Amino acid sequence: MAKLAIIYGTGFGNTGIMAKAIEEGARSAGLDVVIKKVDEATQADVENSDAIAIGSPTYKGAGMPTVIKYVESLSKLQIKGKVGAAFGSYGWSGEAAGVISRMLKGYGMDVIEPDLRIKRTPEEEGVEVCRELGKLIAKRFKK
Ligand SMILES: Cc1cc2nc3c(=O)[nH]c(=O)nc-3n(C[C@H](O)[C@H](O)[C@H](O)COP(=O)(O)O)c2cc1C
Repeated sequence: MAKLAIIYGTGFGNTGIMAKAIEEGARSAGLDVVIKKVDEATQADVENSDAIAIGSPTYKGAGMPTVIKYVESLSKLQIKGKVGAAFGSYGWSGEAAGVISRMLKGYGMDVIEPDLRIKRTPEEEGVEVCRELGKLIAKRFKK
């Protein structure tokens, strides 16, 4: 079974809601999922996974520093060719998910586009879009 690691930061819980919905969708489509807040995540979470989804809200036109630092730390790993996805809640400009997506592409990952941005708190429709992303990640492992 293919493995997905979902690693995220969240200040007020909105990106956390997205992360849990991505988890739901991925599990329903048969992926083995590890989900962690970035403070608890290790590089092994990524090394042991076939796909990673990284989430951060946008603060002051950027991603959460803890998440960006974590993504920077992945540059030392062999993650070329793994499936990647970026997501995050935002208020008005939403740069974080785009920044993360570009970083993952820079590592040679097979990044799902477009990245997923949801304004403020995801409503039912937004939660469903997140579940769909989880399912889409799973599809990359089906022949
Ligand atoms: C201090 C502060 C700065 C923010 N700066 C931005 C910003 O530059 N661009 C943007 O799109 N949203 C900005 N936001 C809005 C947050 O991205 C939004 O509230 C988001 O839903 C928070 O996600 P979270 O609950 O996962 O932390 C800011 C919010 C706060 C409190």
